[in-house]
Amino acid sequence: MKRIFSGIQPSGNLTLGNYLGAIRNWVALQQERSYDCIFCVVDQHAITVPQDPAVLRQATREVAAGMIASGIDPGDCILFNQSQVPEQAMLAWVFNCVARLGWLNRMTQFKERAGKNRDNATVGLYVYPVLMAADILAYKGTHVPVGDDQKQHLELSRDIAQAYNSMFGVDFFPLPEPQILGAATRVMSLRDGTKKMSKSDPSDMSRINMTDDADTIAQKIRRAKTDPEPLPSEVAGLEGRPEVRNLVGVYAALSDQSMDDVLSEFGGKGFGDFKKALSEVAVDVLGPIGAEMKRLSADPGYVDGVLAKGGSRARAIAGPIVAEVYDTVGFLRPNG
Ligand code: AMP
Ligand code: TRP
Repeated sequence: MKRIFSGIQPSGNLTLGNYLGAIRNWVALQQERSYDCIFCVVDQHAITVPQDPAVLRQATREVAAGMIASGIDPGDCILFNQSQVPEQAMLAWVFNCVARLGWLNRMTQFKERAGKNRDNATVGLYVYPVLMAADILAYKGTHVPVGDDQKQHLELSRDIAQAYNSMFGVDFFPLPEPQILGAATRVMSLRDGTKKMSKSDPSDMSRINMTDDADTIAQKIRRAKTDPEPLPSEVAGLEGRPEVRNLVGVYAALSDQSMDDVLSEFGGKGFGDFKKALSEVAVDVLGPIGAEMKRLSADPGYVDGVLAKGGSRARAIAGPIVAEVYDTVGFLRPNG
């Protein structure tokens, strides 16, 4: 059986990076109907850095609303928030006792996020990728659609699955495969083409939020960093121009074209026309999603109901899988 599992953190506004790198691909995969799909708002991952409880609750609803507004259909797949299913954290503990310090020490995202003051990072931030492996494997997930930045974490998930199987002499967990899809697997900041566009960047001008209105989107694109040269006519001409490469990639992804197609239309021209066309397509794609998010946000009861139902469907799958793990590792369960 092919089962997709993916997750997204409720830590700030959803960005165009989340949409192009992840959510849009999830919708397409769900519509293919060849997978069983499970999508999770990972609130337990969010608390690896400090969160205001009321803001976290609200962000969890908002991210779920963003997924539904983008086309995730809770009738076709399971949509829930992580903390509703204790089995994922239960499995994470077992995996903490399978994964090795050396493997976690290699994780580049921890190094970036912990920064210079590593001693002050939470232990949760350090074992974050172990919980991610448990998220996927509590459902025996086989395919994991994510943006490029999650590649290393997924390799770790595969290592953990393999190490568990060999430690206990079983063929229990599949080795989950990454699905890194589309023309914009790594959308960069509008202010600095070497930095990932991120929900947590202090500058709102660095990102396009899925709830930004048309004027805000146009203004952010107008101010996006470029350089004085015209657009090149070939992809090779993007070398050493990270900001330009990023905008061309985003335009290609939003308009379902290749970067070559985009450059054959805009090559040799200045950025004025290109930025105008980019704003138009961004507003066309994000406008209706943002409007639907606002509509859903006005009805938190609906979103909460979707998450509650998704949570109980998810537990029904994860429960027996994690129970089998408990038996395998030798935990006594006197009541069955
Ligand atoms: P996060 O916001 O870190 O929880 O990420 C949720 C999903 O969005 C993951 O699959 C990420 O890889 C993807 N994602 C986040 N930011 C970007 C970006 N700038 N470009 C492409 N994908 C991204
Ligand atoms: N670490 C992922 C991110 O920040 C979110 C995530 C948590 C996830 N658990 C997952 C993604 C399981 C895929 C599968 O983007």
